[in-house]
Amino acid sequence: MQTTETDMIKSEAALESALATPDAELVSLFRRLDGDLIILGANGKMGLSLGALAVRAREAAGGDQRIYAVSRFSEAGAVERARALGMIPMRCDLLDRSAIAQLPAVPNVLYLAGRKFGTIGSEPQTWASNVLIPAAVGEHFPHSRVVVFSTGCVYPLMPSTSTGCDESTPPAPVGEYAQSCMGRERIFEYFCDSAKTAVCLYRLNYSVDLRYGALFDIATKIWHGQPVDISVSTFNVVWQGDANRYALHALELASTPAARLNVTGPERLQTRQVAETFGTLMNKPVTFTGTAGSLNYLSDASECHRRFGAPHISADTLIRLQAEWIMRGLPTLDRPTHFEVTSGAY
Ligand SMILES: NC(=O)c1ccc[n+]([C@@H]2O[C@H](COP(=O)([O-])OP(=O)(O)OC[C@H]3O[C@@H](n4cnc5c(N)ncnc54)[C@H](OP(=O)(O)O)[C@@H]3O)[C@@H](O)[C@H]2O)c1
Repeated sequence: MQTTETDMIKSEAALESALATPDAELVSLFRRLDGDLIILGANGKMGLSLGALAVRAREAAGGDQRIYAVSRFSEAGAVERARALGMIPMRCDLLDRSAIAQLPAVPNVLYLAGRKFGTIGSEPQTWASNVLIPAAVGEHFPHSRVVVFSTGCVYPLMPSTSTGCDESTPPAPVGEYAQSCMGRERIFEYFCDSAKTAVCLYRLNYSVDLRYGALFDIATKIWHGQPVDISVSTFNVVWQGDANRYALHALELASTPAARLNVTGPERLQTRQVAETFGTLMNKPVTFTGTAGSLNYLSDASECHRRFGAPHISADTLIRLQAEWIMRGLPTLDRPTHFEVTSGAY
């Protein structure tokens, strides 16, 4: 039975079940998807929910694809968790080429590994993670379809009034994190060119799963009586369940030369307005800090919605669910997105 939006905020288990519930189109995808699937960098904020969604879609389709989850899985219980969700966990440090050589060379690859926070002061580590790993992965999976998780930060900052960058906007990454993400894309494009690897560059702006995300960050500030930074005045978000299903569909977009897909919701959210709505919903006063910037990361994901349908959950509903999640004291990941940063310094 489909989990309702109200059910989702009953518990963390209910939220995870909602994130892992496939729609009919995703089940159809698994009826035609040939071969096994591997998620590289599976143990982050998105990977296990992505894998769980793939497992449930495969089950509903009666498919037999194996779904591997690859990460360092450093914390206790992480491997067991991936296994319990129906994936085949494989512990691997992707910076170790000899370890990558042991991975099954499956036809379908979702590449999620990356490094963002802590870049300032450790820039070489970020470049190694975001560029060296793609080089080793590209060499190991030359004949696969690869969906490369990237970011809307490869685009230039845009005026608040703009509809945002679409896939034809030339990249202009600001700061070393965004530049290293551009490097990740270019390395995979190199394999497209040299080995004819099929690639889709999946450029995501701000996934929301209620335990973390831009909405979570704003609402938490208000809940704790702290001012909301309005340096970023306008932004986009997308429900993580939608971001995950778009990623799986993107396997069929992978091509040479590389396809590009912007992934976010259709709404352009105003930080000030969102904060005031949270204040009303949570019955808390709202204060602001910073100066509303005129330039923001804004993405136009119309192509994604045209191909795979609009998000199943709107931004208005996400805001309401987010407020409820925080008021009920439900679990959080304690991983701020720093979405208020426009300098590129993370
Ligand atoms: N979440 C968003 O809103 C958002 C927005 C824009 C772009 N993205 C991009 O989408 C991707 C997935 O997002 P996410 O939020 O799930 O990222 P995340 O939380 O950073 O997860 C990535 C995971 O990759 C694994 N990893 C990193 N280095 C590795 C290595 N050397 N070997 C093996 N595994 C490694 C880590 O797990 P272990 O510690 O277990 O290895 C890490 O938790 C990322 O590339 C991110 O930059 C996400």
